[in-house]
Amino acid sequence: MMHSKTEFYIEGIKRLRAEKNAIILAHYYQTGDIQDIADFVGDSLSLSQKAASNSADIILFAGVKFMAETAKILAPEKKVLLPDMNAGCSLADSCKPEEFKKFIDDNPGRTVVTYVNTTADIKALSDIICTSSNAVKIVESLPPDEKIIFAPDRNLGNYVLNITGRDIVIWNGTCHVHEEFSLEAIIRLKKENHGAKIIVHPECELPVRMVADYIGSTSSLLQYTKTDRAESYIVATEAGIIHQMQKENPQKKFIPAPPRDSTCGCSECSFMKLITLEKIYNSLDKETPEIFIDSEILLKAQKPIRRMMDISKKLGL
Ligand code: 13P
Ligand code: SF4
Repeated sequence: MMHSKTEFYIEGIKRLRAEKNAIILAHYYQTGDIQDIADFVGDSLSLSQKAASNSADIILFAGVKFMAETAKILAPEKKVLLPDMNAGCSLADSCKPEEFKKFIDDNPGRTVVTYVNTTADIKALSDIICTSSNAVKIVESLPPDEKIIFAPDRNLGNYVLNITGRDIVIWNGTCHVHEEFSLEAIIRLKKENHGAKIIVHPECELPVRMVADYIGSTSSLLQYTKTDRAESYIVATEAGIIHQMQKENPQKKFIPAPPRDSTCGCSECSFMKLITLEKIYNSLDKETPEIFIDSEILLKAQKPIRRMMDISKKLGL
């Protein structure tokens, strides 16, 4: 017997998924109820790998548009659904094709390394794609004297530059979630929670990265909390990841780092949070909204993504 709307949607999603041979891929920044119903939950890299290799006819992407587009580029023969087409990304929006083309022309002779948080058009202009979990390794895989353009996240770009020491020109983009963390609040929380470690996504600004005990992509932060011995963590990335951290470490305490102008005390990506169980149900039911990409752009974007996938595979990432 059905007890609530939530149960109605959960039962409906399970039924439709089986009937239509669909797979639900969810990013760690989705709400806990969506992560719990997904077939696979992961970071940008592992979601791309899963999208490229599965036997479903339909991929329903519980995440944002650039992730669903990447899935479509890697599996063009499949129907890819994004339950709300407004689920964009402020970082991807900060890099428009015309301006990016000019940036490349103004910096000739450089290999264009582009973060996956970009539109298909930007990927089509790139030489190689990276995610936050492989950015350092992708740059290190290039010959040492190779000159590089890194786009669009200036914080991740600076992080990669500091570690690799490579000649990198960086596009000036940021993510609305990761640039907003309050350093003062993080330091206050550290004082209030004796022994807590500060764990930080590389999209955060330098002052926040400088107080970090550990910096990594979402999956790397999650892995760290499983192997590290601390009992509590101040988490400076989108708060959705705490759902998995708490599930994997029920005895540990996870404290979301707050943004500067905060009333709720935690940082959420407004785009990620547009996806709901109701929208997933409707999307699977009606098989819309569907991701379509111009075939020429798709083929051009496929090359740099495949290059990243091949290097990641070789490196065991
Ligand atoms: P990950 O590569 O850690 O999944 O990061 C995705 C993202 O959107 C960060 O803001
Ligand atoms: Fe984009 Fe930032 Fe949201 Fe990630 S958290 S999807 S980078 S806006």
